[in-house]
Amino acid sequence: MTSLALDGIGKSYGRKVVLADVSHTFTPGLTLLTGPSGAGKSTLLRLIATAERPTRGALSWNGAKLPGARQQLRRVLGYAPQAVDLPEDLTAREFAMHIAALKGLSLSAADRQFGAITDAIGLHADINNRIASFSGGMRRRLIFAQAMLGAPEVLALDEPTAELDSETARKLGALILERAQSAIVMMTTHLADELAPHARATLRVSDGAVA
Ligand SMILES: Nc1ncnc2c1ncn2[C@@H]1O[C@H](COP(=O)(O)OP(=O)(O)OP(=O)(O)O)[C@@H](O)[C@H]1O
Ligand SMILES: [Mg+2]
Repeated sequence: MTSLALDGIGKSYGRKVVLADVSHTFTPGLTLLTGPSGAGKSTLLRLIATAERPTRGALSWNGAKLPGARQQLRRVLGYAPQAVDLPEDLTAREFAMHIAALKGLSLSAADRQFGAITDAIGLHADINNRIASFSGGMRRRLIFAQAMLGAPEVLALDEPTAELDSETARKLGALILERAQSAIVMMTTHLADELAPHARATLRVSDGAVA
């Protein structure tokens, strides 16, 4: 079984300690991350997504330590950041094809997958429009859709349902649960979420620790 282990992870920015000593092993299934604003949920997901390195401790992917095993993890990773600047001049489809190329997907597979995902979350009619014209909720769905490309074995979703109406949020939830049947999926959320009954664990991030 695949596993992503955090062993004594700490992250500080200057003198500010955000995460002090976090140990947890993620296995396939959905893990929800909750906790107050500023607790370090996004920081934890950035570390898992290898967008930043911990200041102490180590991550391991299937028993192999990062940073050595970083490339192996990146190849199977989908990441939807909480806040990201999108390329406004591209259409959603052009942006998705760019991400798919970075993930090593063929154009035809990428097109098929992006079509299916956007269809399932009500974004399909807009994929040939420029991102500049997108609302907040459309941007959130696009960020989610690019993370899902390539059927990632590790999926890190940072507030994927923020700004979405409850019906659209449920559509994303269905795709998230489907992926969580075989993948390691971690998702931050402020809300006592509808997904909680389906999650293998709910972790609370606060005071630099995860419980
Ligand atoms: N690059 C950075 N430099 C300095 N401090 C940072 C940096 N990134 C995050 N922080 C600090 O780390 C703490 C945790 O931030 P983080 O975004 O991880 O919290 P969060 O739990 O995701 O919050 P929210 O629920 O509001 O999204 C905050 O105090 C934040 O100011
Ligand atoms: Mg956050």
